[in-house]
Amino acid sequence: MKQTQFLITSRRFARQRLMLSRIVGVAVALSVGNMSRSQTVQNAISSTRTMTNSPSALLSMRTMHALRTLAAQRDLRIGAAVNSSALRDDKNYRETLAREFSIVTPEYVMKMAPLRPSRDTFFWDDADALVDFAQKHQMQIHGHTLVWHQDVPQWIEKNEKSWTRETLSAVLREHIFAVVGRYKGRIKIWDVVNEAVGDDAKMRDTIWRRVIGDDYIALAFRWAHEADPDAILLYNDYNAEGLGAKSDAVFNLVRDLKNEGVPINGVGLQMHFSLENPLNSADFAANMKRLGDLKLSVHVTELDIRVPEPITPQKLDEQGLQFSRVLETFLAAPNRGTFTFWGFSDGKSWIPSFFKGYNAGLLFDQNYKPKPSYYQIARVLKAPTN
Ligand code: G3I
Repeated sequence: MKQTQFLITSRRFARQRLMLSRIVGVAVALSVGNMSRSQTVQNAISSTRTMTNSPSALLSMRTMHALRTLAAQRDLRIGAAVNSSALRDDKNYRETLAREFSIVTPEYVMKMAPLRPSRDTFFWDDADALVDFAQKHQMQIHGHTLVWHQDVPQWIEKNEKSWTRETLSAVLREHIFAVVGRYKGRIKIWDVVNEAVGDDAKMRDTIWRRVIGDDYIALAFRWAHEADPDAILLYNDYNAEGLGAKSDAVFNLVRDLKNEGVPINGVGLQMHFSLENPLNSADFAANMKRLGDLKLSVHVTELDIRVPEPITPQKLDEQGLQFSRVLETFLAAPNRGTFTFWGFSDGKSWIPSFFKGYNAGLLFDQNYKPKPSYYQIARVLKAPTN
């Protein structure tokens, strides 16, 4: 929404609020005065009804109750991963994204393979389009991701044998400087290294680790910090949200990085859950606490809760409760960062193609209709803070 539109809407919202307060005033006066109660209150209510029936009034009401508006009242940025083709082609997608979220993550287009088809070629168009959209709608951007074992360009992967520590370090360094440098001051948060700990809780065997060595992680953070000293730099991973072997391994990794003076600011916890395997809130709180003791912020970076088919209203209600528990636990932590869902519409989600027999992992259905989960997140955001 353009700045002017936003101003008009907020002025109109202020007028509505004033009108509503006058109606309340009239109702109170009537309770003590001798005016004809039914006629005056009826006039006031009917004028409110006409006022809120206009499209612009409905828009401002929806904006007033949008998740990003409610989250701002809790000093929180609430976000979504963005599918760039939907951003380009789908008006409803763009409108819902701009109305409801205040931080965006590129689901794919800033990964190394799509960004860098060859060593000397960068394809910036889709990444630039997302950054421009975000800035137009006063949204922050969460860069994803500088170093990952997936989406490594073919020109790197297929020549593994020909790379040395020096030559592959040079490639990674120039990549980080090119990408972080291009968006310096515009992308506030970066997933510098993604999923470096394996499912076995050992350091993952990747081309970066095999060729450069274990210190590829520290090097990546140092280069990202050099490229944009003001950026918030995260280590991002999955199945490390609560407590357990992998979570301990991630904790030990980031603790060692901090102890070595590596410029890491926080941890991204991806939060990909299934309805039958929900997050343990107490473990999540304990994990946030111990990361906070390391002076690290914690960001929910890829939250979705996939639902086993057939999708029923009962399962969607349960999903909403599980979403609400994640947010409640997160909001209670002093070192909370940003809170991002891995998409927002079930029609644009990775889940059905990656998890056969699961779907409906997000806040809106495929027609951008809010689901029970949306209202549960709104409820938690509106809940009074103690
Ligand atoms: O855009 C191309 C299109 O031009 C081409 O025709 C098509 C056919 O190959 O591929 C399209 O790219 C796909 C891309 O998603 C955009 O839709 C890639 O093949 C596909 O591999 C890619 O999958 C993404 C995956 O990461 C790998 O990058 C998923 O959408 C995305 O949800 C998933 O996200 C990851 C996070 O980055 C890290 N955490 C786990 C999470 C889920 O796996």
